[in-house]
Amino acid sequence: MTNEAIIQLKDIDVTFHNKGQTVEAVKKVSLTVERGDIYGVVGYSGAGKSTLVRVINRLQRPTAGSVVVNGQDILSLSSRDLRTARTKIGMIFQHFNLMASRTIADNVGYPLKGRLTHEDRKKKVAHLLELVGLSEKATDYPAQLSGGQKQRVAIARALANDPEILISDEATSALDPKTTSSILALLKRLNKELGLTVVLITHEMEAVKEICNKVAVMEDGEIIERGDLVSIFSRPQKPLTQDFINTATQINQALEKIFRQADSLHLSDSQQLVQLQYVGASTDAPLITELYKRYGVVSNILYGNVEILQNTPLGNLIVVMSGEPDKLAAAWQYCQDAGISITHLNPNDSEVA
Ligand SMILES: Nc1ncnc2c1ncn2[C@@H]1O[C@H](COP(=O)(O)OP(=O)(O)OP(=O)(O)O)[C@@H](O)[C@H]1O
Ligand SMILES: [Mg+2]
Repeated sequence: MTNEAIIQLKDIDVTFHNKGQTVEAVKKVSLTVERGDIYGVVGYSGAGKSTLVRVINRLQRPTAGSVVVNGQDILSLSSRDLRTARTKIGMIFQHFNLMASRTIADNVGYPLKGRLTHEDRKKKVAHLLELVGLSEKATDYPAQLSGGQKQRVAIARALANDPEILISDEATSALDPKTTSSILALLKRLNKELGLTVVLITHEMEAVKEICNKVAVMEDGEIIERGDLVSIFSRPQKPLTQDFINTATQINQALEKIFRQADSLHLSDSQQLVQLQYVGASTDAPLITELYKRYGVVSNILYGNVEILQNTPLGNLIVVMSGEPDKLAAAWQYCQDAGISITHLNPNDSEVA
């Protein structure tokens, strides 16, 4: 199941011409999604995320580039073959687009119309509703459901044709955090149980953090950074990526508070405000003890957070380190040698990295 490319986008350009205006929504983007991935595509509004994923099932024809899905050259398919190919690519959106006058069961069974006998369709719908935990709602109408339940219906409907790929475009953006988590958990379960490949479009790194194994960051029509989740979170290269991650790990919020109280920090020449970040088994307590034992450097913890990403702990500490300059330098070196990334923070610089 591993390393088989299921989606291959190559050198994709999408250019819109509108009333004399030219918008390059996607510029030279290449992206490979492997079977079984939950691939996050994150970026702010207007970055080109939706345009890019709409290329996957040719809802958007690219201006240039190639699109291969499941071994098929999507751009050269006849409209009839395209319809068939599209049944293997499910999509869900922020707005659930359910039919108000039909029951939940009818909404879910809609894509199966004409494809299965009445009896088989009933069975299939029952199975799909069970899969998303909504069996009791079969005869209800959309208006009777909560937002999270409606999204579950949309997911069940998207799964009706047994797709191999599910594209989720801001599907949790309108939901509260708890409901968002439950929908993400459902996507993760479907990924595991059905081997479903998921492309998750979002402007929230929190969502990516919860379920994705890979992530690409989009800005201004381009993918500016990509990689597996743990390396992106532990070694983000681009300021935008850092910003997304620092928000997801609450570091930005912590830094804001700390910088707001910068005056009361009163850092002396023998003190430094630093951010420590470590990946894997090492924990903060032994590190702080070690710095004291070895160099007499005292670390006062202002903020600490541990994330578990893909079963790997990622720790973040914001500390004030106190000690003689040469001891502080030695402590820095010790951290770096131990694979702990250490960054100097300037409390007078309100710019949050
Ligand atoms: N059909 C269209 N015609 C003209 N311009 C378009 C069209 N669709 C998208 N654009 C433009 O392309 C750019 C990228 O839009 P896109 O919807 O892909 O962004 P996005 O990252 O999905 O944003 P959001 O997070 O707000 O959904 C924007 O500048 C948008 O205005
Ligand atoms: Mg969008």
